[in-house]
Amino acid sequence: MTQKWTPESWRNQPIIQVPTYPDQAKLRETEERLSQYPPLVFAGEARDLRKRLGDVALGKAFLVQGGDCAESFKEFHPDNIRDTFRALLQMAVVLTYAGAVPVVKVARIAGQFAKPRSADTETQGDTELPSYRGDIINGIEFESGARVPDPERMVSAYSQAAATLNLLRAFATGGYAGLEYVHRWNRGFVADSPEGARYEDLANRIEEALDFMNACGIDAESTPQLHGTELYTSHEALLLGYEQALTRVDSTTGEWYDTSAHMLWIGDRTRQPDGAHVEFLRGVQNPIGMKCGPSLDPDELIRLIDLLNPDNDPGRLTLITRYGADNVTEHLPKLLRKVKAEGRHVVWSCDPMHGNTIKASTGYKTRPFDRILKEVKDVFAVHKAEGTYAGGIHVEMTGQNVTECIGGAHALTEDDLSSRYHTHCDPRLNANQALELAFLLAEAIKEERDAGAHVKAS
Ligand code: TRP
Ligand code: MN
Repeated sequence: MTQKWTPESWRNQPIIQVPTYPDQAKLRETEERLSQYPPLVFAGEARDLRKRLGDVALGKAFLVQGGDCAESFKEFHPDNIRDTFRALLQMAVVLTYAGAVPVVKVARIAGQFAKPRSADTETQGDTELPSYRGDIINGIEFESGARVPDPERMVSAYSQAAATLNLLRAFATGGYAGLEYVHRWNRGFVADSPEGARYEDLANRIEEALDFMNACGIDAESTPQLHGTELYTSHEALLLGYEQALTRVDSTTGEWYDTSAHMLWIGDRTRQPDGAHVEFLRGVQNPIGMKCGPSLDPDELIRLIDLLNPDNDPGRLTLITRYGADNVTEHLPKLLRKVKAEGRHVVWSCDPMHGNTIKASTGYKTRPFDRILKEVKDVFAVHKAEGTYAGGIHVEMTGQNVTECIGGAHALTEDDLSSRYHTHCDPRLNANQALELAFLLAEAIKEERDAGAHVKAS
């Protein structure tokens, strides 16, 4: 029998991926302090996102989720926030046009600090130290002092998240996110891309649509929808003490929400049905995500859906699949069939990043752009064959011009990796690669839609 849920009932369940804090009293004191701080998001916003994701589950909208693998204290800078926001919106515009459905924009930001690790310790030479677990827990420097988990880092992460969110809210509604501006940035991208000619057609069509609307008197001045957008935040709910401290009763409904972000997800490593992470997330009313990798079998998935979405609410649960380009056709169909046969409503989103990580000959962890693209395309093809809806993508990306993933129109090679490899964890698409992915996906979606329209008309 399942126990009664409380914000701390996860503490009775088996847990993995937890840091060992040497000073437990300080940990408790810090969590207590954080629990008195203002919520970062309002429960009503999380409910709105649930509604939007409900439309995605039903095939009436598309989800774009993206941002850093891991945020860091060091890269905390307004330009970085702005550029990630901008890249995400640029992707959203092309996908809105291509799919002719609203795009729900969810950033991995303002809280994406904690990282699961494959080993508890890291050895360099003769020295063995605790692994780096993200800036909210310890420091990345390979020194014994830095690697000691420090509760005070949770407060720094909270402050960074608050300031980040504040700027994002200003951008989203203050004019920076106006549709015309975003389109103009896309124009710049197309002009500078070696593959620009290929994207020109789509950009022209968007421009025509905007010109037509303008001629009809619909512009950012007359129409608030063109002046701004909605941006939601998300991160992996890994460090449960921090999440618990930000979990509050919503005074308008009496329900519990984790107010550290609009959407939280469970990682592929921590989704044990009787584990602490599932226990925690099943009780908060935010929309939640769950990463699905090769080890997840269909029956276990249904068991997890029973726990996480007992009411079968379409916007509650987003399943984020991550198989690797060569494994999609083997693993995904059986999950899709089972979920469909059981009549469960979920959002299916594709994470083409985490199954495609390789080690370059130069030692860097990287991801080839063509593998990423192949995973997305295969996922779309499998959904089509199964009669299910490919509802979104989930990417690790940055607005900066980094060199972490190889390939793309600018043809980054393994030798380029060392020039601007800045990630604190996994390799991210840079702004150009992220946008290129959106354009290529848009091309495929648009073709399909045109083909469908043709069939309907005849
Ligand atoms: N408000 C609409 C939306 O968010 C249109 C829009 C305005 C938009 N600015 C945007 C879309 C920037 C994408 C990106 O969908
Ligand atoms: Mn990652």
